[in-house]
Amino acid sequence: MPGDTALTDFEIRIASAAEQPVLFRMLELYQHDLSDVWDQDIDEHGEYGYSLDPYWSDSAQRPYVILVESKYAGLALVNGAVKVPGGRYWLEQFFIIKKYRRRGLGRAAATRLFESLPGQWQVGQMPLNLPAQAFWRTTINGYTNGNYRESEIKSGSWRGVLQEFGSPSTDA
Ligand SMILES: CC(C)(COP(=O)(O)OP(=O)(O)OC[C@H]1O[C@@H](n2cnc3c(N)ncnc32)[C@H](O)[C@@H]1OP(=O)(O)O)[C@@H](O)C(=O)NCCC(=O)NCCS
Repeated sequence: MPGDTALTDFEIRIASAAEQPVLFRMLELYQHDLSDVWDQDIDEHGEYGYSLDPYWSDSAQRPYVILVESKYAGLALVNGAVKVPGGRYWLEQFFIIKKYRRRGLGRAAATRLFESLPGQWQVGQMPLNLPAQAFWRTTINGYTNGNYRESEIKSGSWRGVLQEFGSPSTDA
């Protein structure tokens, strides 16, 4: 293990246009990491591929990088593609590079992200991604003090475990 101290000193910020290739490559790592639960194959270029252009052409789609000591440590993609009525923000992807895992970074970065965008959130996990389900239950339960709803969506174009919760406005 590279370290066992909690990672509380980190940054999560909107990625610049120049960082699009960084996000693309982290998404390649992410997709390979999940290739036992996400049925995809690499293409003739040796890539899974990921369409990131909308994150720079549509202001409702937000690409984030997560950094520890100025080193890339993960990513988050947020858009409005909620899966059930009543939501505003959908967490499309979320990834922490292996070196930085199990030190509280995912939880702390997700919490900071939710706090930065007040409104109704929906977060989902693929049915076979059991570690992610455990992570999100812990993280969202802690963030909301247990005030969230979980359901399983079994039909339609997106299927999986879904959590719905609110992020309160911090305005006085
Ligand atoms: C899921 C993921 C984001 C977790 O990031 P992380 O920084 O390691 O998470 P944290 O250290 O903040 O974990 C907080 C808590 O979540 C739970 N948790 C985290 N990873 C877990 C795992 N693999 N299995 C079971 N529980 C887990 C634990 O309760 C953990 O607390 P603990 O370490 O004190 O036991 C990371 O493993 C990852 O990027 N996985 C691959 C991509 C993925 O599945 N993304 C989510 C898609 S929905």
